[in-house]
Amino acid sequence: MANEKRAVFIIFGGSGDLAHRKLYPALYNLYKTGDLKEHFAVIGTARRPWSDDYYRSTVVESLKDIDDDEKMMEEFAKHFFYQSHDVTDSDHYIALKQLAAKLDDQFDTGSNRVYYMAIAPRFFGTVAEHINSEGLKTNGFNRLVIEKPFGRSFDSACELNSSLTKTFSEEEIYRMDHYLGKFMVQQFTNIRLNNPQLEKALNNQYVSNVQVTLSESLGVEDRGGYYETAGVLRDMIQNHIMQIIGAVAMDKPAKLDSDSIHEVKRDVFDSLKVLQPDEVDRDFVRGQYDEDATGKLKAYRDEDNVDPKSNIETFAAGKIMLENSRWDNVPFYVRSGKRMPVKSSRIDIVFNDKIKELGLNPNTTVIFLIEPENGSSILVNGIDYKEANQDFISFPEDPHFFDNEREAYENLMIDILDGNKIHFTLWNELQNAWKYVDVIRNQWDNETPDFPNYMSKTMGPDAAAELLERDGNSWVWDD
Ligand code: BG6
Repeated sequence: MANEKRAVFIIFGGSGDLAHRKLYPALYNLYKTGDLKEHFAVIGTARRPWSDDYYRSTVVESLKDIDDDEKMMEEFAKHFFYQSHDVTDSDHYIALKQLAAKLDDQFDTGSNRVYYMAIAPRFFGTVAEHINSEGLKTNGFNRLVIEKPFGRSFDSACELNSSLTKTFSEEEIYRMDHYLGKFMVQQFTNIRLNNPQLEKALNNQYVSNVQVTLSESLGVEDRGGYYETAGVLRDMIQNHIMQIIGAVAMDKPAKLDSDSIHEVKRDVFDSLKVLQPDEVDRDFVRGQYDEDATGKLKAYRDEDNVDPKSNIETFAAGKIMLENSRWDNVPFYVRSGKRMPVKSSRIDIVFNDKIKELGLNPNTTVIFLIEPENGSSILVNGIDYKEANQDFISFPEDPHFFDNEREAYENLMIDILDGNKIHFTLWNELQNAWKYVDVIRNQWDNETPDFPNYMSKTMGPDAAAELLERDGNSWVWDD
């Protein structure tokens, strides 16, 4: 039985794409499961002068792909209210405060607030400061949800953080990384801890290398303008890949609560071996996609809102090292790219010969598939874990354990409402991730790459394979 939650959500950017693609469907699914029932309301704010009715119709429209229960969708939409809003205008915050207070009474929401920043990052600080100066915070809980990117560098992230912390404590800030909402990423810790053999093997005695791949088959689509300011380094590596490394490499937490997990995760981020500028070209490779072999798919430089001479990378691969006793000398190879052959998010843990001591064949690889299989599989030596070696990894008897259909955003919304920060990025983790990535970004910005250097629908530039070959290793997944 779902435990009903209470809150008024104030969604800045309520008319936008993210809200309609991700947030409303996630809230609707929570409505269907009973996590949200009577005691919630959503205020969408944005510049456009929409009426409540029109806003509700857009909300219903955003649900059409996931349900056809018109009646339920209409009932759900009755909890939605729209307020036209200029983020710099103090009067608008006062109106927002009054509306939220009215909805508190109407829906009996316990004065709880979720402030959701689904707007352009340059407004995050302004909105937070107005929430403070116009006194929007209440006696209930007040949680601020921040979408990425959280800054563009260490310095800008610090600036943003200090403007947010004038109004919200670290405890109240929920930095979204939607990869942390994905089922298999969430399960990783449980699987480790429920499998003493695996837990025993996750260190430099038994692991040869770890590989994290987040490949995408799509190009930048209609996000060329944003992507030109990000590149894959900021878009995927600084956040999603770093967080996955945190989950794989962390020590066993004392307990399965947020503080204990973040404590061991922080140690991972603290131990990132930041590269020297002259090591960047040795340990990192960048690429940009060209047309595909048929010429049907455009090169990145021909995409809308992209500079025809752009040097922004759409692919990167690198070797990340951690300096701690558990992982010294074990490379974490990472890669992510647009326009690769298929969409695949996976973690490959490659064991060395010593793994025989723990009863596995030498050179076994344990593969955690995150997507597109939706957390459906763990392979040992390429064979499904059930047939491969039950002693090494076992799972709850429930045959449906992996049949999880819950979207990342739903998982994270529940966590926000429950005040559970396990699956959010803490400030100290983010600082270290930026420090690591900044060196690479600066180095790349100072050199002119030979772009484009990989054809669409391929595995990226050859140098990505050579990076591992130099160490006598190779990518486990190679299309
Ligand atoms: C986002 C990036 O954070 O993650 C996108 O901004 C990328 O560029 C997306 O496409 C990938 O997420 P998912 O869940 O589709 O793997």
